Amino acid sequence: MKENPSSKVPLIAPSILSADFVRLADELASVEAAGADVIHVDVMDGHFVPNLTFGPPVIKSIRGATSLPLDTHLMINNAESSVEQYAAAGCDWLTVQVEACTHLHRVVHQIRELGMKPGVSLNPHTPWEVLRYVLPDLHHVLVMSVNPGFGGQSFIDAVLPKITELRAWIDREGLDVRIEVDGGIKPGNIARVSAAGADTFVAGSAVFKSPDYKQTISALRQAAS
Ligand code: DX5
Ligand code: ZN
Repeated sequence: MKENPSSKVPLIAPSILSADFVRLADELASVEAAGADVIHVDVMDGHFVPNLTFGPPVIKSIRGATSLPLDTHLMINNAESSVEQYAAAGCDWLTVQVEACTHLHRVVHQIRELGMKPGVSLNPHTPWEVLRYVLPDLHHVLVMSVNPGFGGQSFIDAVLPKITELRAWIDREGLDVRIEVDGGIKPGNIARVSAAGADTFVAGSAVFKSPDYKQTISALRQAAS
C-alpha cells in the first residue's frame, strides 16, 4: 500500500447519524473515550436529501455533551440563511453542499467570519474543479463517497480519482486544506482512500454498529496512517 500522500495526521470523525439517538450523550462519551478526533453531525432537511435529521437546537445540546470539535455537514437548501444559527449552536467546522449554494464564495466567507472552519462538500458526480477559485478560502473539502441522505451505504470507488486529483492540486498550489471523505468508510477500505490523498475520515455505521468503538477507531486510524 502506498503511503498517505497527505502530510496531515489522519483524523477520524464518527458520524452520529448511526448512533442510538435515545442514548446520544452516552454515545458521544463512548466515541470520545474511544479516541474520536471530531464528531461528524449530519443535518438533513428532507429537500436537498430525502431524509430529515435535526438542526441547531439539538446541536446546541450535543455541544454541551462533548468537548470534541463538531464537524457539521449541512445537507440542506438555502444554507446561507441559517449559518448564523449553526455558529450560535456551537459548531466548529461547517460544511455546505456546493450543489445547494448559488453564492458559494459568500457563504464560505460568512462561515469564516462567524469563527467556524469552512468546508464545501461535493456529491459523487460533482467534479472538484468547481472549487478551484474558492479552495484557498477553505479549511476542508468533503468528498461524498455515497449519495448523501443515509448511513450504511456502500463506498463509490469512482470518487478515488477525484480525491487523487484534488490532493495533487492542493499540493501543487501549496494550500492548507484537508480532504475529508464521507460515506461507506470501513477498516477494510480506508487505506485505499488514504492512499488516494484523504486525511479526514467520516465513519458512521462502521463505528456505531460495531461492538467495540475503541477497537474500530484504532483499526481505522492504523489503516489510514
Ligand atoms: C450520509 C452522511 C454520512 C453518513 C455516513 O449522507 O453524510 O455522514 O453518516 O454513514 P456511513 O459511514 O455509515 O456511510
Ligand atoms: Zn456527512
